[in-house]
Amino acid sequence: MAVGVFDSGLGGLTILSALERRLPDVPFVYLADSANAPYGVRTPDDIYHLTTAAVQRLFDAGCDLVVLACNTASAAALRRMQESWVPEGKRVLGVFVPLIEAMTERQWGDNSPPREVAVKHVALFATPATVSSRAFQRELAFRAIGVDVEAQACGGVVDAIEEGDMILAEALVRSHVDALRRKMPDPEAAVLGCTHYPLMEDAFQAALGPGVTVFSQPSLVADSLADYLERHPDKIGTGEAAFLTTGDPAQVSSRATQFLRRGIQFTAA
Ligand code: DGL
Repeated sequence: MAVGVFDSGLGGLTILSALERRLPDVPFVYLADSANAPYGVRTPDDIYHLTTAAVQRLFDAGCDLVVLACNTASAAALRRMQESWVPEGKRVLGVFVPLIEAMTERQWGDNSPPREVAVKHVALFATPATVSSRAFQRELAFRAIGVDVEAQACGGVVDAIEEGDMILAEALVRSHVDALRRKMPDPEAAVLGCTHYPLMEDAFQAALGPGVTVFSQPSLVADSLADYLERHPDKIGTGEAAFLTTGDPAQVSSRATQFLRRGIQFTAA
């Protein structure tokens, strides 16, 4: 048993790194569905079926708790999974809620009615599937009132990152920020609503300028998982950490090593 961490590809490693730093004694099994990435251009049904198959693989590996380190899966599949699929005794958590709780100045798990918050104009950068799900706006509306959200679907960024083409990824980030600014000239805060984007955080911050607060998920998700595991220590388990992929292990290992700047060895899922 260990805690499972899932993403369509390499983006979830940004979350995994923060989890490892925050919870050094917890073993994590990471699964990248590289053969089917990117998810962000797929239909909700497709994302649901791929995500349940991947999470089942992590349950089979002995995990009782799986973190969807993927906004696209969290947005398009998590609610449906929780309502009708997650087996008794297992738990699946997403990455949206911790971010929104931090942005709306709430304690983790505070379910009190929505209220006014300091931030009023928020730019959301995410995959096309996450943007069209409107899951971010829905979760925000449960917690805050009077917040204006402008969403920008960042086509192409995930593919460029998965291909290791960071020059293209940077150029795309600049053009998506320009497109966002044409709709919302002065956002106060920007949400990087895709776990691949922290790899481009400097490019987002440079394009947005120093006056915009950039909310990035890894440390927020790590804090909220630490809080969850304190309340549910039975979900930690023991076991071997592992990196699994549905893609080519050699290629995925070399990209992962390049991104995280430490040797990572993936094996076939
Ligand atoms: N990194 C994922 C996310 O947070 C998935 C991106 C994709 O596969 O398109 O949305």
